[in-house]
Amino acid sequence: MIELKQVSQAYGTQDILKNVSLKIKEKRITALVGANGAGKTTLLNVAANLIPAKSGQVLLDGRDICQMETIEIARKIAILKQTQHLSMRITVQELVAFGRYPHSKGRLKSADETKIREAIAYMDLENIKEKFIDELSGGQRQRAYIAMILAQDTRYVFLDEPLNNLDIKYSVEMMTILQKLVQELDKTVIIVLHDINFAAAFADEIVAMKGGEIIREGPAESIIDGETLKDVFDHEFHIIRVGERKVCVYFQPQPDREIKRSKDCFI
Ligand SMILES: Nc1ncnc2c1ncn2[C@@H]1O[C@H](COP(=O)(O)OP(=O)(O)OP(=O)(O)O)[C@@H](O)[C@H]1O
Ligand SMILES: [Mg+2]
Repeated sequence: MIELKQVSQAYGTQDILKNVSLKIKEKRITALVGANGAGKTTLLNVAANLIPAKSGQVLLDGRDICQMETIEIARKIAILKQTQHLSMRITVQELVAFGRYPHSKGRLKSADETKIREAIAYMDLENIKEKFIDELSGGQRQRAYIAMILAQDTRYVFLDEPLNNLDIKYSVEMMTILQKLVQELDKTVIIVLHDINFAAAFADEIVAMKGGEIIREGPAESIIDGETLKDVFDHEFHIIRVGERKVCVYFQPQPDREIKRSKDCFI
């Protein structure tokens, strides 16, 4: 269980997280949503102890995360950061092998090799595993980083905008893989998403942030609501149902487009 208790964080004099309390639901996908600058990345980084909280406490399986060794945390939490800074020239396979470091400390055993192979296969990277990271397209590189996270094989998986650079097919595949990790391997996933429709379709829970605070949280079904989303994003949303699913429409059609469509549209 990961629990944030009245966590605050500031950069200089600017308060970024304001008294945030959150219990992350086990064996669920929780989507963290909110406008740019709402504090999503900061919340994720504090929850994974990458930056210390100014006040309050983060509990990981009942223990104060600040008191835990980095390697112990890394065996429980894998985090894909919003931006990656890799200065080494390494191949996809070598990058994915980094994911095993908290377990192998650099001496890979056959169980580690198996996890690396599985992660490469999961992310469909077999035919480019010998390529250097700096030779890949943005989406291929993103998939390689996600494979590294999968190879780490932690109970908690934190992903900060993992769909960046992924095309539609890989975005859907990525979210489907995360669902499988939760349903089949009992992982707990916390994912920052900007596309609210991916949150609506794949998340079990949604946590909505604004101005460094959690302003709404609950089952995805309850958060995907026009009034709630307007409050979170300061933008108009129209919610439609497609079968079982809710879909958010968040742009206004251009008037001339509408006229053209009404002439062309026979249904
Ligand atoms: N290292 C830093 N130093 C100073 N201010 C920072 C730093 N990192 C973030 N901030 C500020 O903290 C606020 C929250 O940033 P954060 O990155 O957590 O937002 P976010 O919700 O992840 O936004 P985005 O959707 O754009 O990624 C912003 O106002 C940002 O400018
Ligand atoms: Mg961010």
